[in-house]
Amino acid sequence: MADKKNLPREMTGAELASMLKSSINFKSLGGLRCPELNLTPEDMQWWRDAKVGMFIHWGLYSILGRGEWVRHNEQIPWEEYTALADEFDPKDFDMHEWTDVAKDFGANYTVMVTRHHDGFALWDSPGSYQGFTSYNTASHRDFVKEYTDCAREAGLRVGLYYSPMDWRFPGYFDPKGEKDPENAKSALRMKQQCYDQVEELCSKYGPIDILWYDGAWLAHSGSDTTSSWLWEPVKLNKMVRKYNPKTIMNPRSGWEGNFYCDEGSHEITGGIVPVPWEKNMCVCSGTSWGWMPNDPVSDFDWLIKMMVDVVCRDGNWLVNVGPDRNGHIPEAVKQRMHEIGEWLRANGETIYKTRGGPIEPVDNVYGTTYRGNEIFLHITDPKAFAGRKLPAIPYTIEKCAYKGQPVPFTQTEDGITVTLPEGLEHEADTIVYITLKENVKPAEEADIYFTGKGDPTK
Ligand code: GLC
Repeated sequence: MADKKNLPREMTGAELASMLKSSINFKSLGGLRCPELNLTPEDMQWWRDAKVGMFIHWGLYSILGRGEWVRHNEQIPWEEYTALADEFDPKDFDMHEWTDVAKDFGANYTVMVTRHHDGFALWDSPGSYQGFTSYNTASHRDFVKEYTDCAREAGLRVGLYYSPMDWRFPGYFDPKGEKDPENAKSALRMKQQCYDQVEELCSKYGPIDILWYDGAWLAHSGSDTTSSWLWEPVKLNKMVRKYNPKTIMNPRSGWEGNFYCDEGSHEITGGIVPVPWEKNMCVCSGTSWGWMPNDPVSDFDWLIKMMVDVVCRDGNWLVNVGPDRNGHIPEAVKQRMHEIGEWLRANGETIYKTRGGPIEPVDNVYGTTYRGNEIFLHITDPKAFAGRKLPAIPYTIEKCAYKGQPVPFTQTEDGITVTLPEGLEHEADTIVYITLKENVKPAEEADIYFTGKGDPTK
């Protein structure tokens, strides 16, 4: 990869991807800048170290099982959709179920959807337009309270997802009132709801570690940034910082944010990414984020490879589950989350509290993570690895080991060879520990401003 110090200060996400020969596709770039809202590398440290998180999409849409966009996609009449709140009453649901799964999976943080684009708030939200909340309807429960309490009790960092936009407002579709002047008022009413609700989320539930926005664009077009004339994201997030000065925020409010997001199930290739970033994807097919019956769970090896590909490129891995209408996470999902957790319990020291590098990954063959004087070589295809030379590194190797046993290696000026034992059993990731005589020098973080030009809009 290019020397980080020499990277251009301004570029597009597509330019970075092309420079890194990477498949990363960051969303919501080109956000407003505001140095006052930035966090220091020290503030970001826990998040960098955490590496693995669990995302949870759950709401009225989970009753229908056709994805969280169902109201909009099928243009379900509002009377019909809001009536679902009468059925949203998971009597036997105990929030520990989610935090138990998150812990079992090896997550260090969770991000719960508190209110999606349908407007239904999962807490006691006085700011909710027309009081459309779980607290005011059948369940009479404040799920955000239950969640934040349980997550903290379980030692998980607490993340909240919030959608500024809300399909219930005609103003969302015509924010300037071009079709009807009333719509401009409606857009302002929607903005008011956003400010009120973000304030509630930041003030009623203790310190929020992560605020994860999604949907600050308008009328399903443009970008989060081109919509900032309405939302005023800098003002909004200054309010967040007033309550929680260290909340880590994603870039999807129209302000630049503290990290970048690559969304979806596409694989991650290319060089180490020189800015903080997170891959967010589903453990199931990814057709939707909310519960769908019989949504196939992804293959174990594929998921491990995805995690390794992300972490070796210095990213975090946020994996979504969609509980059913009663809040239960499907058994097949629980099982897969458990299997990944088992893998992490055995190999987590090569993932948690590491940084990507120092050796650049080779797509579909290997990548590295490191901590202190140890490099963890993650080989996802041992056959393709055999006979390959790793590039030279400016450190002296003391030893290489596989499952605690030394493995032969050579280190010369033109590179390193590591010979894996014969007849390896199949593994999702074959890990060689490379011990150095000195600590790896952390790479400098790049200070890039993504202009957003030509980048995907939403
Ligand atoms: C996509 C989906 C949205 C979901 C989000 C999670 O943007 O459209 O519904 O909440 O991904 O990252």
